[in-house]
Amino acid sequence: MKIKPFGTSEIILQAWKKGIVVPGFNIPYLPMMEPVVRALRDTGTFGLIMVARLEWIKFKSGSMKSIRDEYEKQKDLRFTRLHLDHVPVIDEDNLLTDFETIISEAIGLGYDSVMIDGSRLSLEDNIKSTRKITALAHSAGIPVEAELGAVMGHESGPLPPYEELFATGKGFTSLEEALKFVKETQTDWLSVAIGNVHGAISTAARTEKKIEARLAIPHLEKINNTLHIPLVLHGGTGIAKEYLMQSFKQGIAKINIATAIRQPYEKLMNSSVKAAQDAVYNEMLDIIRKQLEIAGSANRIFDDSNI
Ligand code: 13P
Repeated sequence: MKIKPFGTSEIILQAWKKGIVVPGFNIPYLPMMEPVVRALRDTGTFGLIMVARLEWIKFKSGSMKSIRDEYEKQKDLRFTRLHLDHVPVIDEDNLLTDFETIISEAIGLGYDSVMIDGSRLSLEDNIKSTRKITALAHSAGIPVEAELGAVMGHESGPLPPYEELFATGKGFTSLEEALKFVKETQTDWLSVAIGNVHGAISTAARTEKKIEARLAIPHLEKINNTLHIPLVLHGGTGIAKEYLMQSFKQGIAKINIATAIRQPYEKLMNSSVKAAQDAVYNEMLDIIRKQLEIAGSANRIFDDSNI
């Protein structure tokens, strides 16, 4: 695999080895990017700027190109890289997407890493789709995130009762499947389902407060001890802190956060974009300093590493 200098691949590997989590922040509205980057810079924290397909279809991020252009204006390579989040093969409305075209376009636009989400497919079809993308991305020298298991919440309609979901482990990433999946796809990072759920994005439910999720840490520990690759936690908003802290010691090297910064922005965006941006900045400081305790992580990730 050709590697770009200071590539996201090495950065996430270093973070993973050191037990430091890298947060990825979703940008459903372009003006959110400025306060996100500013907060990372002001606190010396390393993070990813992300956009998912649903954010240019159901929200106002515009397109992969408009996000890339805004990123070029805001970026600070000491603290940021650009990641393409969820490109589903079957989307949250059960429709097939042109995932290969979208991901090729992102690679052409200069995205530093990409996600292919085949989690609504059978294991074999997920492997097939993911393999196409790892071949594509690795020949361009960038890493791939894939998903196995069901991280629910993006679909319209109510979630199954959370307590039932957690108790039964329904949809959790299977250890045996994960081993086969990683071996056959050569994905660089794996997004796992261990009790985490996404914040709702349907127009009816997107302003609701998200439930406090928990994580099946013993199950994560088994996955981590088996796979030995960086793991990703989606649905990063509102997970009980004691679970989060344990997960970072058990292979979670990247955490995705959308709802926590989107909702404060949406509350104020129609009255004042500046006030909405300030609300994002303040929430970012809280996430970095208090919720994840990763202020100053850039130095720790880059220190005494060869990147
Ligand atoms: P939350 O909206 O729950 O923070 O999840 C974000 C996410 O996982 C995006 O991929």
